[in-house]
Amino acid sequence: MTVSEYLWDDNVSSAQQGGPTGTMSNLPDDEPNAQLIVVESDPAIRSRLAMQLGERAVALDDLSGVEERYADSPLLVVLGPSCVRMPGLGGAELLLTNRPDIGAILIAEDLSTDLFQRAIRGGVRDVLGVPVDTGQLNEAVRRIDQTLAVSGGRPAPAFAVGGEEQPAAGGKVITVFSTKGGAGKSMLATNLGVLLAQRSEGPVALVDADLQFGDIAVMLKLAPQHTIVDAVGSFERLDAGFLKSLLAVHQQSGLLVLPAPLEPAFADQIGADQMSHIIALLRSFCSFVVVDTPAYFNDVVLSLIEDSDDVLLVAGMDIPNIKNVKIGLQTLRLLNTPMSKIHLILNRANSKVKLEVSEVERTLQVKAESLIPSDIVVPQSVNKGTPVVLDAPRSAIAKSLEQLADRFIEAPGAKKRSWR
Ligand SMILES: Nc1ncnc2c1ncn2[C@@H]1O[C@H](COP(=O)(O)OP(=O)(O)OP(=O)(O)O)[C@@H](O)[C@H]1O
Ligand SMILES: [Mg+2]
Repeated sequence: MTVSEYLWDDNVSSAQQGGPTGTMSNLPDDEPNAQLIVVESDPAIRSRLAMQLGERAVALDDLSGVEERYADSPLLVVLGPSCVRMPGLGGAELLLTNRPDIGAILIAEDLSTDLFQRAIRGGVRDVLGVPVDTGQLNEAVRRIDQTLAVSGGRPAPAFAVGGEEQPAAGGKVITVFSTKGGAGKSMLATNLGVLLAQRSEGPVALVDADLQFGDIAVMLKLAPQHTIVDAVGSFERLDAGFLKSLLAVHQQSGLLVLPAPLEPAFADQIGADQMSHIIALLRSFCSFVVVDTPAYFNDVVLSLIEDSDDVLLVAGMDIPNIKNVKIGLQTLRLLNTPMSKIHLILNRANSKVKLEVSEVERTLQVKAESLIPSDIVVPQSVNKGTPVVLDAPRSAIAKSLEQLADRFIEAPGAKKRSWR
């Protein structure tokens, strides 16, 4: 099978019927910003790519003259598979060095780590494999287009790794944690992320820091192109713009998601410093960064707790849960974590399990700040890959999750609502 045969996919027909706008009409903020160019020496592949990208794309067989011709406009270049076979990615590396404001996407036959690194080091913001899905291609274009719009065509600020230059504190970081597995962390993190994305003005990111067994992508029914491993794999070049291009978008809410590694073995590649840097970059352009965690303390979790403005400590309504959360609270106190940022969330708080909320509060010596009821709609929604606040918005659990989210986005000066 030739590249030109398998580059073509069924979704092209949707582009033919309506171009990229047909596939992107439900995406937020998808106003085209940059001049879109597709570069490919094979005429058949070039015209097919141009068709996938729609009328907005200008198709060229090489990059000569592009820098001069588009000297004053934001530019987004889609590099076809032939560029991979040419020195310097067909002149793209030089162009991107001279004009780091240009957004570039590379389409490659062989998506090896080596090629990915070469492309990223050369200034490319995203790499897609063939066969290219029209939706994915246009989604990548849209994401980079937005980055160019945010940065006004200038390169996004790069932050020196471990250096002095750090992003200014921006959005709030909310970490969802529990010292008990299955307490409801991921349920809470996904729903809170979705609600905040719907309600806040700026972007909202959800980071899956359960690095071995994270299931945020599954709970949101996402098939991510990239994970946190890609961010760490190109750490020297990692800046806000590049990080943005790695985030998956939850279409129903606009929530930006940085998924956990696909394999537990990759978890070791992400250290506390790296996680801290990723969170700092995210908060530099997001209103909120919600973080889901595993059910134990490690270096990454401790640095997340330290970097967070708020920590939602989730406990279920049974004795093992309360015992483990008590130990967790003691550990946090020993680590001098300010108790003002720890908020106890009791999940399944209406369960008839012969354990009273007041009894739990007395044992933990902390007042519960939110009570989330148990509801069969939760596992039902998890199995559909639709967060319960979208799947059953009228349910009691959706209401209690909304109340929790509202705590974070109350207008300044608004009367404080109680957590319960
Ligand atoms: N309030 C609730 N009512 C009913 N079911 C719930 C509720 N909260 C969570 N669950 C169910 O409990 C299961 C565990 O929830 P979740 O995955 O969010 O826990 P977790 O703390 O992230 O677990 P892990 O430690 O394994 O990551 C899920 O299948 C979810 O459907
Ligand atoms: Mg979980």
